[in-house]
Amino acid sequence: MAVDLPAEARRIAGSVSEVFGRRVSGEPMTAADGKTGARLERVTVDGRAYVLKYLHRSEDWGMRATGDLAHRAVAVWRDGWLDLLPPTIDHTVVAAAWDERPDGRGAVLVMRDVGEHLVPEGDAEIPCEQHDAFIDHMAALHATFWGRRHATTGLLPLTRRLTFFGPKLAEAERARGGTDPVPTQLVPEGWARLEQRAPRAAEVVFALFDEPTPLVTALAATPQTLVHGDWKAGNLGSHPDGRTILLDWAVPGIAPGCSDLAWYVCLNRARLPETKEATVERYRAALERHGIDTGPWWHRQSTLSLLGAFLQFGWEKALGDDEELAWWQARALEGARELR
Ligand SMILES: Nc1ncnc2c1ncn2[C@@H]1O[C@H](COP(=O)(O)OP(=O)(O)O)[C@@H](O)[C@H]1O
Ligand SMILES: [Mg+2]
Repeated sequence: MAVDLPAEARRIAGSVSEVFGRRVSGEPMTAADGKTGARLERVTVDGRAYVLKYLHRSEDWGMRATGDLAHRAVAVWRDGWLDLLPPTIDHTVVAAAWDERPDGRGAVLVMRDVGEHLVPEGDAEIPCEQHDAFIDHMAALHATFWGRRHATTGLLPLTRRLTFFGPKLAEAERARGGTDPVPTQLVPEGWARLEQRAPRAAEVVFALFDEPTPLVTALAATPQTLVHGDWKAGNLGSHPDGRTILLDWAVPGIAPGCSDLAWYVCLNRARLPETKEATVERYRAALERHGIDTGPWWHRQSTLSLLGAFLQFGWEKALGDDEELAWWQARALEGARELR
């Protein structure tokens, strides 16, 4: 199927100074709700506030873990994907520049500062109306790119998406002397705990880390679309006019739409104003509203995507409470039955 990405790629500037037509100096952002190590700065130019995000593999375990050799967050902007987003989603990106350093070439993403409209950090429940808009706009995003096929160079492939939190992550990060607590401590501790607390689910997960093909093939046989890949509260906000702010396009790719949904219910668990089941049904209804027939594939894709989310975050659930872990263990076993 042909695809209509804009013919003219956007240009990546040689430097941030070139973007603004003069030197600018940013204030480091410290209280940011980020987890991957990327450095952020806030700058004001001609009375307008911007956020600069520096993308260097040497500073960002998320880029290393997902094999981000092409600065994906820049690539989705440069290649025109972000131009095609539904009008209900604001990605905030206005420009990108290279960032040349002695240890290699990185990139800088220049965004409008939307800090005042982001979901506040913490565990407070997301208001129902805002949650409903997030799910509706997620479905609109997926409906927009439904079934399109095109060059996905620079995007995150499905296999890597499902397996990047696997046991090799800690090994690789420790080998390079990394100290970030997520990949070097929490992830491996969580996987070890999973074996003790939910051995049947652990068996499913570890078998898939050894050989993910059955899950990847089964999911890839259901409809695919462009997913953002990280719909967690720290990347979300709402403009006063109701549009959703969706930051942090570090792991976009072609994947089942339900993988965005499963990640959302998994990572925002404490903040959901309704049950996970109700959220899943809300997304299905939203897809239907946006013109997608969910009948033929829904059961299989949603069941397998919840197993997929457990492959991504089983370690995190194993560090949490019994009720939540039990819910996910049941989803993992259900997904495994679907693969037989
Ligand atoms: N355009 C922006 N406007 C305001 N705040 C931002 C913007 N981009 C990022 N931030 C803040 O910085 C945090 C980390 O940025 P993000 O791109 O999500 O990186 P990470 O990979 O560290 O999660 C966000 O959770 C948000 O609080
Ligand atoms: Mg983020």
